[in-house]
Amino acid sequence: MPYLHGERIRLRAAEKEDIPVFLNWINDPDVTKNLMLVYPMSRFEEEQWYESMMQRPSSEHVMVIELITQTPDEKHNPIGTCQLHNIDWRNRSAEVGIMIGEKTCWDLGYGTETMRLLLTHGFGILNLNRIWLQVYAKNKRGIRAYEKAGFTYEGKFRQALYQDGRYYDVHLMSVLKDEWQGEKNQSGD
Ligand SMILES: CC(C)(COP(=O)(O)OP(=O)(O)OC[C@H]1O[C@@H](n2cnc3c(N)ncnc32)[C@H](O)[C@@H]1OP(=O)(O)O)[C@@H](O)C(=O)NCCC(=O)NCCS
Repeated sequence: MPYLHGERIRLRAAEKEDIPVFLNWINDPDVTKNLMLVYPMSRFEEEQWYESMMQRPSSEHVMVIELITQTPDEKHNPIGTCQLHNIDWRNRSAEVGIMIGEKTCWDLGYGTETMRLLLTHGFGILNLNRIWLQVYAKNKRGIRAYEKAGFTYEGKFRQALYQDGRYYDVHLMSVLKDEWQGEKNQSGD
């Protein structure tokens, strides 16, 4: 059942049946080199992760990003996942995460569109005030996509990532509700 609709993508709840495709994505080093995943993931571990994720509040469940297709069987292709997590209801803040696992779908604007949908969801439906993320400084694609979606550089954790024999900074980026509202008003939405 779709939950959030964009122009070219939609977000829906993750199902147990998605686990095999998740495993393909999270065992691909090209995908995981910019994620906090460093070990191969077994089906058993992924099933355990799924069960524990489902114990979390619904607001923090992982959602599947699907391409909207016009096929008669209504079969939509999953291309990745995204999630709001670390939701802090008192301060109305949440962290956001995204993984487009289908590499052929990179650089086509889907990450930007997903982030915009999550901002609409977080600010417009959940009434959050601040949505933030962490991104490795070397992940230029991610940083560019987040900037396009309205995120601003906020600071960095210095040398917080060790990978391939060297340290990298980890950037913090965020959007405030007022900023999102301002952009929305400008675009006439
Ligand atoms: C990071 C990710 C979410 C971005 O989504 P995406 O759909 O590929 O990104 P978009 O197409 O919306 O935007 C990418 C932008 O980065 C640009 N870009 C790509 N490689 C770049 C590079 N090396 N340097 C600078 N810009 C780059 C693209 O040209 C595009 O900008 P443009 O539209 O101005 O031309 C997605 O690629 C992904 O999930 N990757 C694997 C896992 C990951 O990195 N997750 C995020 C962890 S924080």
